[in-house]
Amino acid sequence: MIELAGVSKTFASRSGAVRALDDVSLTVERGQIYGVIGRSGAGKSTLIRTVNMLEAPDSGTITVDGVDMTSLGEEELRVARQRIGMVFQHFNLLNSRTVRGNVEFALEVYGVAKAERARRSAEILELVGLTEKADARIAELSGGQKQRVGIARALAGNPSVLLSDEATSALDPDTTEEILGLLRSLRDELGLTILLITHEMDVVKSLCDAAALMRDGRVVEHGLLTDLVMRPESELSDGLFPLGELPEGRDTTVIEITFVGLASQEPVITRLARTHELDVSLLGAAIETLGGKQTGRTRLELPGSPAAITAAVEDLRAQGLSVRVVREAS
Ligand SMILES: Nc1ncnc2c1ncn2[C@@H]1O[C@H](COP(=O)(O)OP(=O)(O)OP(=O)(O)O)[C@@H](O)[C@H]1O
Ligand SMILES: [Mg+2]
Repeated sequence: MIELAGVSKTFASRSGAVRALDDVSLTVERGQIYGVIGRSGAGKSTLIRTVNMLEAPDSGTITVDGVDMTSLGEEELRVARQRIGMVFQHFNLLNSRTVRGNVEFALEVYGVAKAERARRSAEILELVGLTEKADARIAELSGGQKQRVGIARALAGNPSVLLSDEATSALDPDTTEEILGLLRSLRDELGLTILLITHEMDVVKSLCDAAALMRDGRVVEHGLLTDLVMRPESELSDGLFPLGELPEGRDTTVIEITFVGLASQEPVITRLARTHELDVSLLGAAIETLGGKQTGRTRLELPGSPAAITAAVEDLRAQGLSVRVVREAS
């Protein structure tokens, strides 16, 4: 479990002070995959670097598995960091060594005895699917294979927490999916808690249980994906479910209804049309699996009097549905 409470960090720069983190609080439950998304400069990397104290915060506390990282001395910090693996965008591997050599080097740094290193490295390479490539040099590997080595090295300290800073940003979409699949299986098999940084909504969508949106050093929105999609005014919700542009040139009211579980969807629309005598037309729909649950969003056009539309929307909300009025007829 990772817990940040009131974490702030300001950097001095030539153009003045930069508040990279501004009172950030965030909790990642044990075994959760948590995504932090935001534009360039939002403070994502600074945030993740405070978790293992590569960046010491100016104020606030960072707790990992019950240990307050900000209170530790140098030696205690070295020990605590062993249990926090980190994966980078550009892999940061030793190019002169083999795949096995990279993992064994990490084990050596953690003080694992030589005989044990061979056994552990074989075990870790098996976990990340690189047994066949153990003797290959880094230069001979594809980007996806390099990132597998990066992940293998991050596992050397037998971590409970994995931090990933844009681990898939240098990879093509298929390889990205592969690496995300690996992270998911590591969470499932080893019970890892994963905090990952990304600027790609697709990564959040396909991998994460929960997410936070950062802007100018602040967390502006956070929650479980299954909760976020139900918040009509949520920016993250929008990104999770893009239904495209609205049709132009029509002065009609458009609403979006979000459903968790799909069975309920059809009767809702039929009932809406019947009870309120509205000539509902379906403008778009999408289904996504978010945080392991099937979720659907439907965009409907509602022609009719403002009073009838208001009554219909109120009725839908009274049924506990998440309804957002995307456009109102004038
Ligand atoms: N060591 C540093 N010294 C001065 N300013 C810094 C330092 N590290 C980060 N910053 C500034 O803090 C802000 C947040 O940077 P950070 O690297 O955390 O952003 P980011 O969200 O990871 O961006 P990107 O998506 O581009 O990686 C930026 O304005 C950046 O210029
Ligand atoms: Mg960054």
